[in-house]
Amino acid sequence: MKYDDYLELYKTKTFESMNLYFRAREIFPGGVSHNIRFFKPYPFFTRKARGKFLYDVDGNKYLDFWNGHWALILGHSPSKVTQKLRKQLKSGTLYGTANEVSFKLGWEINKAIPLAENTRFCSTGSEATMYAIRLARSASGKRVIAKVEGGWHGFNTNLLQSVNYPYEVDEGLGLIEDEGHFVESLQFNDLERSLKVLESIKDDLAAIIVEPVLGGAGCILPKNGYLHGLQEFAQKNGSLFILDEIVTGFRFSYGAVMDNLKLEPDLFTLGKIIGGGLPIGAVCGKKEFMKLADATVEGDKSTYCSIGGGTFSANPLTMKAGYHTLKTLKKDPTIYENINNLGEFTRTGLTKILNEMKIKAEVTGIGSLFMIHFLNDKVRSINSALDAALSNKEMLNNYNLALMANHDIFFLPGKMGAFSNAHDKKDSMKLLNATRSIFENPGNVKPS
Ligand SMILES: Cc1ncc(COP(=O)(O)O)c(C=O)c1O
Repeated sequence: MKYDDYLELYKTKTFESMNLYFRAREIFPGGVSHNIRFFKPYPFFTRKARGKFLYDVDGNKYLDFWNGHWALILGHSPSKVTQKLRKQLKSGTLYGTANEVSFKLGWEINKAIPLAENTRFCSTGSEATMYAIRLARSASGKRVIAKVEGGWHGFNTNLLQSVNYPYEVDEGLGLIEDEGHFVESLQFNDLERSLKVLESIKDDLAAIIVEPVLGGAGCILPKNGYLHGLQEFAQKNGSLFILDEIVTGFRFSYGAVMDNLKLEPDLFTLGKIIGGGLPIGAVCGKKEFMKLADATVEGDKSTYCSIGGGTFSANPLTMKAGYHTLKTLKKDPTIYENINNLGEFTRTGLTKILNEMKIKAEVTGIGSLFMIHFLNDKVRSINSALDAALSNKEMLNNYNLALMANHDIFFLPGKMGAFSNAHDKKDSMKLLNATRSIFENPGNVKPS
């Protein structure tokens, strides 16, 4: 089949979604409630999700490798969590007061990640990173935040810079130029260049914020020494080192990547997995810095950093879902073994198939995360967000459409995939076989 055939097939099987999408465009800008959820020609509309499957309004059932923005490590609606949520529904959905279950989740995080000496819950990852940089500015008395090109920390205004290629161009309207002066961009994995930039802004450098694995920018691993180099510079300079572990926290093992890499961030952010499928964000870190968020101290507002929480922070539904997700992960270490093995098996399998078919591609990832990048004359290997951005994205989107249209396999087009504990080896084999069949004729996924 050719690209146009996949397109026709997708349209034929998603007629109801198409109707809904065009009606949704009247209600929502772009027809969606998150920019990345749109893909061409239009997204299917999900009716329900269970285990490893998404079911759309047209009756299609997709094997899901997107897993709710990679948040659902146990799959969709795992019974160990939903049973507890059903019970919680009877006891209240939003207390708006201090509550015991938030203490339980906070305590679990504290035991799993020693540097979570203190935690403040909020409702999204974007909020968590916004709080982290406000705390860093309070603690350091400085203003500039360094982030990496392609680094994604959510839609908080402060960090909405150099996210999408071309990095020097504004991320959109509504951003004030003056604010941009307080954010500086570094090139991921190029320590020498990054240190040069940091040196030039060191007097006003409040913090460096970085994901330990670039997630949204293409599932890119840090080179040896890169993150340590940034941490060392920040901490010697009296600036804070912030790790954004919103994707990586509890993704590869019971804890955070900072422990595996022996990093010691001053602050870090969590989200996704710790919410067990419900909205969450958390800023955590050393007491020395987190204590600035203590608004109970005597004094006026000049003595603390107002980082909030919000109406829905620490709501009992999210706290219960998060707590029972972590408990499930802690109790059964085979979960990490299983999903990490699936990731490894799939990366190896995809690489082998693409090599055999003489498709120039690189498969990146670690543990249960993986992504294919199609290479071209400009990009021969993937080390940074720039490499990922300049790789053959059109081919990737077309491959993702082919998987959806003809094989009922869903990746959010252009984004990395993740295994959950609902997946097994048969799912990996299904993906490998589908990939082989799509590339049997290399012209298949190119537009005609
Ligand atoms: C590394 C990272 N930080 C922050 C965020 C923002 O989290 P949220 O979408 O919950 O606001 C994301 C979301 O994908 C992320 O991947």
